[in-house]
Amino acid sequence: MALADYGTALVTGATSGIGQATALALAERGLTVHVAARRADRLEGLSQAKGIVAHAVDLRDSDAIYAAFSDLEADILINNAGVARGFAGIVNSTPEDLDATIDTNVSAVFHLLRAVLPGMTARRRGHVVNIGSVAGLYPIASAIYGGSKGAVHLLSSNLRIELQGTGVRVTEICPGRVTTEIFDHAFDDPEAVARVKDTGISELRAQDVADAILFALDAPAHVNISTLEMAPTEQTFGGMALAPLNRQ
Ligand SMILES: NC(=O)c1ccc[n+]([C@@H]2O[C@H](COP(=O)([O-])OP(=O)(O)OC[C@H]3O[C@@H](n4cnc5c(N)ncnc54)[C@H](OP(=O)(O)O)[C@@H]3O)[C@@H](O)[C@H]2O)c1
Repeated sequence: MALADYGTALVTGATSGIGQATALALAERGLTVHVAARRADRLEGLSQAKGIVAHAVDLRDSDAIYAAFSDLEADILINNAGVARGFAGIVNSTPEDLDATIDTNVSAVFHLLRAVLPGMTARRRGHVVNIGSVAGLYPIASAIYGGSKGAVHLLSSNLRIELQGTGVRVTEICPGRVTTEIFDHAFDDPEAVARVKDTGISELRAQDVADAILFALDAPAHVNISTLEMAPTEQTFGGMALAPLNRQ
């Protein structure tokens, strides 16, 4: 079941960043790509591209998810939409930050799976790609965001067990820092936004992640790329250094 065997995809959060790059790459490969997000002007722009069908849906509204996608015969579901509210830490974040992150990054993923998987399993054909994060694999200083991505990690591995024997594949992509708009919306305070965006390293581009997603989708039917971790060369995780041993 390589990419050429799939006909229809649903990509959430396609009005910017990773989702947009992925939707356009899939449309370029000849698929019909349904995209879901909130910003109408950007959806309108995207729908000018051949093969893109735009849906203005707030994914925090589960009724809207079922109304829009229960009858869609999708071969591919890319659960990509996400927000990064909660980087001020749980004490300094608002209850609204907490709800926005859990509703978008976790609850919407479950509801989209519930909407799309019955058709995939009945047709014995499908590929779910969940966009997790290295924040779901390693500790970071945001229990809210890290917890949301940790949930995506475990739901992906549990789902693989649930779907065993159905022919439906589940891939989790875990990127490190990618240059996108996500941190523009992470804080209300522009100085906090500027601080969180100033990594000083050469970050991944959205297209790098889209390329990894297409690699997983293009694997032959007997291959499931289960978890794919990728990061900028200059971003590393864990380790304990008492002295800067590796710096000359
Ligand atoms: N950038 C990074 O460093 C990084 C690293 C690891 C993982 N990720 C993950 O990658 C995914 C994509 O993020 P990105 O970095 O590409 O960010 P982005 O450019 O901000 O894109 C986020 C997308 O999600 C959509 N979205 C947010 N809330 C929504 C809602 N309630 N309903 C519908 N759509 C919604 C946005 O569209 P509208 O605003 O138009 O609705 C937008 O299209 C996220 O899951 C993120 O957690 C990002």
